[in-house]
Amino acid sequence: MEISPTRPDKSQVLYTGKEIAVTVERMAGEISTVYGNEEITVVAVLHGALIFCADLMRELDMKVQLETVTASSYHGASTTSGELSVRVQCADQLVDRHVLLVEDILDTGRTLSRLSAEVMAIKPKSLRIAALLDKPERRVTDITADFVGFSIPDLFVVGYGLDLDGRYRNLPEIRAIHS
Ligand code: IMP
Ligand code: MG
Repeated sequence: MEISPTRPDKSQVLYTGKEIAVTVERMAGEISTVYGNEEITVVAVLHGALIFCADLMRELDMKVQLETVTASSYHGASTTSGELSVRVQCADQLVDRHVLLVEDILDTGRTLSRLSAEVMAIKPKSLRIAALLDKPERRVTDITADFVGFSIPDLFVVGYGLDLDGRYRNLPEIRAIHS
């Protein structure tokens, strides 16, 4: 039986699992410095942030509650069309809370701009953003993350939660795909 490849062709490792772990730990330290012992509500933006959020949460020592939101933007081959579907089903859980939105990657910024506006309308005590990856060159909206893991150039990346057509989320490393 032929074993199908589990990694995409024409791709190379950008960050190893170990490098990611070190960065996640550093981010958790920064987050702890900002919130101290205040309880926070982590909101993972699915599906991409699932793995990052699971690792990040386990590095936090304060009381943490977990909620999720689903956001999907419809990407063309290399651009984002701007159509976005966002559902904040956990609205009641965010009122008067210190909300930390946890996202895999900040690209054009449309997803997080839209989500931040939706969350702010719910009137949290505070709102901050943690993004594992940031592609500042690609930004079309006025948004920055409070906590950033890696700032990268305009590359398409997969692994550690990030997908290409739904695949490669399970890779422990982050890989860049050559176009
Ligand atoms: P934005 O709204 O353009 O900032 O898009 C953010 C979303 O697009 C992320 O949450 C990802 O789901 C997806 N995305 C953007 N860049 C990449 C990438 O390089 N690899 C995989 N997904 C990406
Ligand atoms: Mg995403």
